[in-house]
Amino acid sequence: MNAVYLISLLITLLPCLVVVACATKQHISYQRDVRPIVVDKCIDCHSPPYGKGYIKTGLDLGSYESLMKGSVYGPVVVPGNSKKSPLNMLVEGRAGNLSRVLNIQHDPMTDDEIKAIRLWVKQGARDN
Ligand code: HEC
Repeated sequence: MNAVYLISLLITLLPCLVVVACATKQHISYQRDVRPIVVDKCIDCHSPPYGKGYIKTGLDLGSYESLMKGSVYGPVVVPGNSKKSPLNMLVEGRAGNLSRVLNIQHDPMTDDEIKAIRLWVKQGARDN
């Protein structure tokens, strides 16, 4: 195997690698990916009038608009910044750093669910 052969092999393979890398970049949709998770795991407690989480914090997770409105403490999502979003902190178990009270035991999410919500926030938390 000589250098010319190696270089031409690399040149041939490069576009394939780029295609694979682009194909694996996941685009997250609120309607398709995020909403079903929230409906399954959160909405019982975070919808008016009787949800425990709603009563305690005013956080209604029933629609995109109410989710973005946040709780009585302020927004729970910072678009583009999953590190600073209280919602991500909570589901990723980082809420201990928050000054607001988050001492309730929330149902654990799967790694895939956590990742989907993180990517959705990173991609701008859009109503898509
Ligand atoms: C069993 C009821 C229950 C479920 C289910 C639940 N929550 Fe909560 N949630 C609460 C309560 C109660 C609080 C208020 C905690 C406190 O004051 O200690 C809260 C607080 C929160 C807060 C903090 C609001 C703020 O601004 O401080 C967020 C964010 C939150 N919940 C998100 C979620 C998400 C996301 C889910 C789904 C994974 C979920 N919750 C499921 C009851 C629930």
